[in-house]
Amino acid sequence: MSMYNKKSIDDIEVKGKKVLVRCDFNVPLDGETITDTKRITEALPTIKNLMERGARVILCSHMGRPKGEFNMKYSLAPVAKKLSELLGVEVPLARDVIGDDAKALAAKLSDGDVMLLENVRFHKEEEKNDPAFAKELASFAEIFVNDAFGTAHRAHASTAGVADYLPAVCGYLIQKEIRIMGGALSNPVRPFVAILGGAKVSDKIGVINNLLEKVDTLIIGGGMAYTFFKAQGYEIGTSICEDDKLDLARELLEKARAKGVNFLLPVDTVCAKEFSADSTPVTFPSNALSADMMGMDIGEKTRVLFCDAVKNAKTVVWNGPMGVCEFAAFAVGTETLAKAIAASEATSIVGGGDSAAAIEKFGLSGEITHVSTGGGASLEFLEGLELPGIAGLQDQ
Ligand code: 3PG
Repeated sequence: MSMYNKKSIDDIEVKGKKVLVRCDFNVPLDGETITDTKRITEALPTIKNLMERGARVILCSHMGRPKGEFNMKYSLAPVAKKLSELLGVEVPLARDVIGDDAKALAAKLSDGDVMLLENVRFHKEEEKNDPAFAKELASFAEIFVNDAFGTAHRAHASTAGVADYLPAVCGYLIQKEIRIMGGALSNPVRPFVAILGGAKVSDKIGVINNLLEKVDTLIIGGGMAYTFFKAQGYEIGTSICEDDKLDLARELLEKARAKGVNFLLPVDTVCAKEFSADSTPVTFPSNALSADMMGMDIGEKTRVLFCDAVKNAKTVVWNGPMGVCEFAAFAVGTETLAKAIAASEATSIVGGGDSAAAIEKFGLSGEITHVSTGGGASLEFLEGLELPGIAGLQDQ
């Protein structure tokens, strides 16, 4: 995508310079334990490169949603600890973001050193993209590097605002996300198959619209399939449905027909009486679910249909589970599809969030071309929207 032909850390001199690096270290925590370190490990190539080239590296990130107040529940301390372990050097954590402690630590940095500022969202100005706050952050450094792909859809002070005050380039993670996902969208090897799941059509309207312009096959599974069923007059029982999106679902089906896109919906559906892990699974044809049951997963015939489409693909993009995958009895569809994507020869791209977690859980990450570190950000990217954290970086 030409709009994302951005300069990277390879295009700038960094020796002896203070470099502010925005990462997305918003990792899942269980107490103080990080339960998925992917966002940290994916940031290492940029951090190591800058350190090796003699930059004075000042890392920053948000964690959670502390609503603009200092709250140590959202401290980046577990991240500083994990980074120290992974880099093999102590990564000091400032006790504040733009305060005296941060300034004192930054002043002590020698070439090749690294430090971490506290959670930028401890200041309400961060999410407001307040220019004075962005300028203050920028005053710590001579160069800004954005490598926070997961937060690139937010126009915040540390993701977008600082680029107004410093030469701004991307790190290797953002570069990789853009290259692989942008490449699939702008110049896919065909057949190009996209698989979308998750509970709501309303979350994915933009993505469906954009992908209908590009794909050969669009597969819809998960909760949002029931809105498409009802739109076609099927009995959906007590399944999740967005009644105000029925017209839209019909329009999307019509658009797919007009564009000649092969639009695949589940042909059979695993249902249950109640939304619970131990509810008994019963399969129905998708056009006639039982009136007192709800759809929970794609059925066996559908698994074969969807996996066949994946088998023949040369490019696959997947975002969103096929069923209620937090319950083992209704995770079969999601797992079968994940395995088919992993086994295929296609360039495979998995959008963040639930599908990335599923890939991780089934131990398949090694067999996927690219698992994005972005949840909301990867959706907006697939929607074809301009991401503010990338738009302000210098063009090649
Ligand atoms: C994410 O986890 O999607 C990013 O870190 C952005 O977090 P946010 O939704 O709180 O802005």
